[in-house]
Amino acid sequence: MNKYYVTTPIYYPSDKLHIGHTYCTVAADTLARYHRLRGEEVMFLTGTDEHGQKIEDKAKEAGVTPKEFVDHIVEGPRGVLDLWKLMNVSNDRFIRTTDGYHVESVQKIFKQMYENGDIYKGTYKGKYCKPCESFWTESQLADGKCPDCGREVQDAEEEAYFFRLSKYADRVRKLLEDTDFLQPRSRVNEMVKNFIEPGLEDLCVSRTSFSWGIPVDFDPGHVVYVWVDALSNYITALGYLNNTYHDYDKWWPADAHIVGKEIVRFHSIIWPAMLMSLNLPLPKHVFGHGWLLLDGGKMSKSKGNVADPYILAEQFGVDALRFFLMRTFPFGSDGNFSNELLIQTINTDLANDLGNLVSRTTAMVGKYFKDTLPEEHQYRAEMDDDLKTLVSELRKQYENAMDAFAPHTALAEIFKVIQRANKYIDENAPWKLSKNPDDAPRLACVLYNLLETARVCGILLTPFMPESMEKLLTQIGAGDGARTWESAAHWGELPENVTVQRGDILFPRIDMDAALQALEDAKQAALREASGIEVEPQLEEKVDFDTFCKSDFRVVKVKSCEAVKKSAKLLKFILDDGTGVDRQILSGIHAWYEPEDLIGKTLIAIVNLPPRKMMGLESNGMLISAIHTEKGEEALHLLMVDDAIPAGAKLC
Ligand code: MSP
Repeated sequence: MNKYYVTTPIYYPSDKLHIGHTYCTVAADTLARYHRLRGEEVMFLTGTDEHGQKIEDKAKEAGVTPKEFVDHIVEGPRGVLDLWKLMNVSNDRFIRTTDGYHVESVQKIFKQMYENGDIYKGTYKGKYCKPCESFWTESQLADGKCPDCGREVQDAEEEAYFFRLSKYADRVRKLLEDTDFLQPRSRVNEMVKNFIEPGLEDLCVSRTSFSWGIPVDFDPGHVVYVWVDALSNYITALGYLNNTYHDYDKWWPADAHIVGKEIVRFHSIIWPAMLMSLNLPLPKHVFGHGWLLLDGGKMSKSKGNVADPYILAEQFGVDALRFFLMRTFPFGSDGNFSNELLIQTINTDLANDLGNLVSRTTAMVGKYFKDTLPEEHQYRAEMDDDLKTLVSELRKQYENAMDAFAPHTALAEIFKVIQRANKYIDENAPWKLSKNPDDAPRLACVLYNLLETARVCGILLTPFMPESMEKLLTQIGAGDGARTWESAAHWGELPENVTVQRGDILFPRIDMDAALQALEDAKQAALREASGIEVEPQLEEKVDFDTFCKSDFRVVKVKSCEAVKKSAKLLKFILDDGTGVDRQILSGIHAWYEPEDLIGKTLIAIVNLPPRKMMGLESNGMLISAIHTEKGEEALHLLMVDDAIPAGAKLC
């Protein structure tokens, strides 16, 4: 049986994952599912890359240990594991670089490279990009900044271990230029021009300035450079130099590492060189996909423009989101993500083209044949051959595209066929055929051809939309034998007298405006939740207008304010309310304001409440504040208005 080992990058759990990360993992998952569909045995690995200074700093900021910090993002609610489960990601293994077996293996890998002379001790002088955790030489900087992310770099100098990357320059160059190891081909040119031609320098592979990393066991104080640690995951997760797993020999070398373009350098230069040093076989392919951009720029938390895959999946459905990601953006190129594009794609491809094909066809089988087609069909060569030929050739085209890491092309081929099938409905006008009982065999044939088309498309779409395609295949009456990879290459796998099972609409049409509004509301709610802010729910009970108008709200100016003796909470205000007579109001807000800070402020008070005594003093009215809770604590803000508004102005 053929085997296929595919990986995603392991994610930095420094923040929540966004739609860009989801893109990369869904692509690898689709590939893994495609190979399983073909009957191959698959190992699909993903995980998290949990060491490094960035994580150490973030944990400090949050007041927790680095391990507690990453545990929360990986295992906590709506964390990495939850997201992959939600997205129906079918990984066979999940590695965390803080797992003991990985730590043990990395220490051994580092030692082996040290013992074979490929790692040596020296002094590191250069530039370091903290967010990318990358070292750069002067010549590699872009306008003095990090060539990957464009941010400022820092001077760095310390005793460190180095990996003899320079020794492997020629072999790596050959690997890139003479083989199809790195794809798409345009990435080869990028790597050679930007990194190999300027001369590969030895790589600094240990740090002493922070401690959140895997210790170099023979030189305490040094931790292993996070990329050496992270890249090793692809073999430690199989049991290389540890006893937790035992299938290194079975799976290595990997068939494909799917990675984003900014980390192609690590996967196509450093990783092969490390493997050469360890004398291990090289992975067969690295594919560097493009980025999903937002408003033409990189997605980042700091830009506040992160698209939340949870919200999108909850609103539009996991399969629709998975499909959109693979259908819309050519896999090797950058693409602009937008909610509008997502909704349009769902409506056009899924609701209109695919959804309609299935619902119209099954509805007609229901209406004209009570769900079961008769055995007798009337084939008409020239009308049917076009569709049949397209469908029969589809699997081959799909296979070529999938094998060339072009899932978007595979989907384009499928949708050409779906569109052709919809046209075939109009050409044959089944509603007209249904009028004449003599046309029943022809009508049966037309509907059968449509069901067969939906079947083959449904099978080939399964890696992209596993749950919905299972439903589709059930609705059109495909038994187990008519759902296989094998059967997708053959026309006529459904029985002539197939019975359909009409079911729910697979992909409901989405109302653009309502969906955009709902997304905005969900985003705001998520932001409030993340910030720990809660507000009281609004009252259901209505107040009639006349009653409301009886409340007399006025602008007031604070003439004096002092704390009430023996009260921890109360402040006593003397206010100008525009009447010429001072008004005294007591307010329990000392926890939030110091009295001297409020003198001269312009506030709002309700002035026609009955007088009330507190701590022996009379209060004539109430100052208006806004309240909410933040991380469990009540927060209060006095309503302050423009000082230009005169005392006594009435609110209406
Ligand atoms: N920890 C490293 C990988 C180590 S693998 C040995 C890392 N992690 S990451 O979390 O920053 O990124 C993980 C993957 O998500 C990368 O392949 C990256 O390219 C991808 N993406 C992050 N943002 C992206 C987009 N906006 N669009 C597409 N993919 C992007 O790098």
